[in-house]
Amino acid sequence: MPGSLEKLQVNNFRCLEHVELEPSPGTNLIFGENASGKTSLLEAIFVLGRGRSFRTAHRQRLIRDGSTEYVILGDISAGATSRRIGIRASRKEQDIHIGGRPAASIAELGDCLPVEAIDPEVHKLVEEGPERRRRFLDWGTFHVDQSFLTVWQRYRKALRQRNALLQQQALSQLNAWDEELVLSGESLTAMRRRFLDALAGPVAELGMQLLDSEIKIGFRPGWNREIGLSEAIAGNRERDSAMGRTLAGPHRAELVIELDSARARARVSRGQQKLLAACLILAQLKVLATLGRPRAVLLLDDPGAELDDRRVGALLSALADLDVQLFVTALDRKNLPEIADRVFHMEQSVPRLMLQ
Ligand SMILES: Nc1ncnc2c1ncn2[C@@H]1O[C@H](COP(=O)(O)OP(=O)(O)O)[C@@H](O)[C@H]1O
Ligand SMILES: [Mg+2]
Repeated sequence: MPGSLEKLQVNNFRCLEHVELEPSPGTNLIFGENASGKTSLLEAIFVLGRGRSFRTAHRQRLIRDGSTEYVILGDISAGATSRRIGIRASRKEQDIHIGGRPAASIAELGDCLPVEAIDPEVHKLVEEGPERRRRFLDWGTFHVDQSFLTVWQRYRKALRQRNALLQQQALSQLNAWDEELVLSGESLTAMRRRFLDALAGPVAELGMQLLDSEIKIGFRPGWNREIGLSEAIAGNRERDSAMGRTLAGPHRAELVIELDSARARARVSRGQQKLLAACLILAQLKVLATLGRPRAVLLLDDPGAELDDRRVGALLSALADLDVQLFVTALDRKNLPEIADRVFHMEQSVPRLMLQ
C-alpha cells in the first residue's frame, strides 16, 4: 500500500540492539511485559519520521548504553516500488538519507513518513503551555501546505536577526528586517488559519464521538488581531527595544481549545485531556488524508494503561475510520485482540511475529 512502512531496521536505539520488523500496512499490535522495549520500538519509528523523540529532547538517551550511535532504516512503499529512508545519529551528529542520497533536512523525512503519536504523555498537548500546540499546528500546516517550510524558515531567520539587533540596540537597522518579518509572518499566519479551518470540522466530529462534547478550536495569531502585524511590530518597537526581543508575532501564536465552551486547560480532568489531545491528533490525520498526502503512521502507546475500556473502545472505533498505518502496544495480547492484522510479541527487546 502506498505510503506505509514496509520494513523497519533499528540498531542500538534505547534497549533495541538489532531489530528487524515487517509490519502490516494496516494494524500492528506489539505486546510484551513492562520494559520489554515496546515504547522504544514506537519511538524509533517516530524518530525516523521526525528526527526527534516524543519522550526526550536529549539525543544521547536514545543511543543504546555502550554504543556510540544509533541507526534506523525504513522502507517506505511508493506505488510498486519502495524507498529507503534512514537516520544515523551519534551524540554530536545526525545524518539523514533518503533513497540513497543525503537529505538536507529533517523536514524531508517528514515528507516521506508523516508520523503522529498518542502516548501516555499526550495530555501535555492540552495541559502545557502554547509551545506544544504551536508545534502541533505547524506540523499539520507543514503537511498541508507545500510552501509552509520555506516561509517558516524565512520568518525564523528574520526574527533571529531582528532580536540580535534589538540586543545590540542597533535600532537604525531594524527596518530592513521588519519588512521581511511582516511579510513572512502574515503569510505563515494565513497558512495556519487555513489549516485550522480545515481542522475544525473533524475536531468537532471526533469530540462528539470520543467525549460526547462540543470541542471548538480557536486561534490567536500572536499579536492583537484588530491590527495588522506591521502595525503591531511598529507599535511595539520601544517595548521590544527595552526587552531586547520581539514581543509579539506568529512565534507567540496560540491554539485555543474549548470544551463545551469552557477553556479546556483549566476545566477538564486528566482522562478528558487525553481524549481531547487524541481528538486533535486524529482530526489532523483526517485532514491530511483528505488532501492526498502520504499515508500517515499513528503510534498508539499503551492506551489500555491510561483509559478505561469504554474509552479505548471509542478511540479504536474512531481510528477505524482513518486510513493510517497503526502501531498499538499493550501489556497483554488479550487487551486488544480484535483489531490487529499482525501481532508481535516483544521478548527481551526483540519483536517476534506471532502466527495468529
Ligand atoms: N539508552 C538506553 N540504552 C539501553 N537501554 C535503555 C536505554 N534507554 C532506555 N533503556 C531501557 O529500555 C527498556 C525498555 O523500555 P521501554 O521501551 O520503555 O519498554 P516498555 O514500553 O515495553 O515498557 C527499559 O528497561 C529501559 O531502562
Ligand atoms: Mg512503554
